[in-house]
Amino acid sequence: MRRPTALRMALACLAVASAAGCNRVQSALAPAGDQASEIGIVWNMMLWVCVPVYVLVLVALGIAVWRNHGQVAGDRAIGHGLLAWSIGIAVLLTVLTATSFAVDRRLHAQPQHPLQVRITAKQWWWQVEYRDPADPSRNIVTANELRLPAGRAAEIELRSSDVIHSLWVPTLAGKEDLIPGHDNRIVVTPRVAGRYRGQCAEFCGLQHAHMALDVYVDTPQAFAAWQARQLAPASAPRSASAARGQLLFEQGACALCHAVRGTAAGGVTGPDLTHFASRRTLAAGALPLDRTSVAAWVIDPQRYKPGTNMPKVPLDAQQVEAVTDYLMGLQ
Ligand code: CUA
Repeated sequence: MRRPTALRMALACLAVASAAGCNRVQSALAPAGDQASEIGIVWNMMLWVCVPVYVLVLVALGIAVWRNHGQVAGDRAIGHGLLAWSIGIAVLLTVLTATSFAVDRRLHAQPQHPLQVRITAKQWWWQVEYRDPADPSRNIVTANELRLPAGRAAEIELRSSDVIHSLWVPTLAGKEDLIPGHDNRIVVTPRVAGRYRGQCAEFCGLQHAHMALDVYVDTPQAFAAWQARQLAPASAPRSASAARGQLLFEQGACALCHAVRGTAAGGVTGPDLTHFASRRTLAAGALPLDRTSVAAWVIDPQRYKPGTNMPKVPLDAQQVEAVTDYLMGLQ
């Protein structure tokens, strides 16, 4: 077997890095929306201007060191060289500034009839609300999952209820902070259907890394169907165990923090669980949403997300089973 040379190692690293960059789920280099494409223009411009300039500077420096050997060129030659460099740099900087300014204007343009969404960051999860100003009965509240229709702009209001967080879904748009007491907004116009990943991009405490936001871009039809399912009240329990679970949920500690629309559970501190089982992850991407994980989470949330506000609720094995049955039925 041939031993890897430094060159092969470097090439392998480069291949892995570029493969990661081309991953469409979470990459600013594979834009799937208008805003990410705009930012891509600035990125490419910076790259194609700055790399040649950097190389030129190094080459000039190398030549100067190699040729001069301590001699100093005439004042006139130095003057001309400096003037040429200064003009070149001024032109390039102006081009970069103008591009960045123009893109920034376009990113903040007001879209026509946008989908109104509000995202509130909390330690450590995302509350997502869809707002229908014409008919508030069509408002939807969900968590840790953002669904958007392809081809329609979404105007997303960004809030925080505790510390500064930052939302970044690189495949779709730029990064924006969520600051307590200061609402921000971003416009996201996705173009390509698919699943993307957002992540809190500002250190916000112990579970900062476990603060992912799944973003699903659907066709307009699939989005409308999802919206209709979310607007429906919670499913009634389908088994005796799930019905026991609902009772435990409503009369125990769960309902103090969680809401299940259409039932006695109306807590607002934790995520709304009306259509909990329709999501794909649990605890802001900390666990996959399946029976085993849900049961494990109910038994001891601190084990999977130390520092989370959800306390360990004392339940025996049968009660855990019942609550899990109830939660998994909330499709
Ligand atoms: Cu929220 Cu980091």
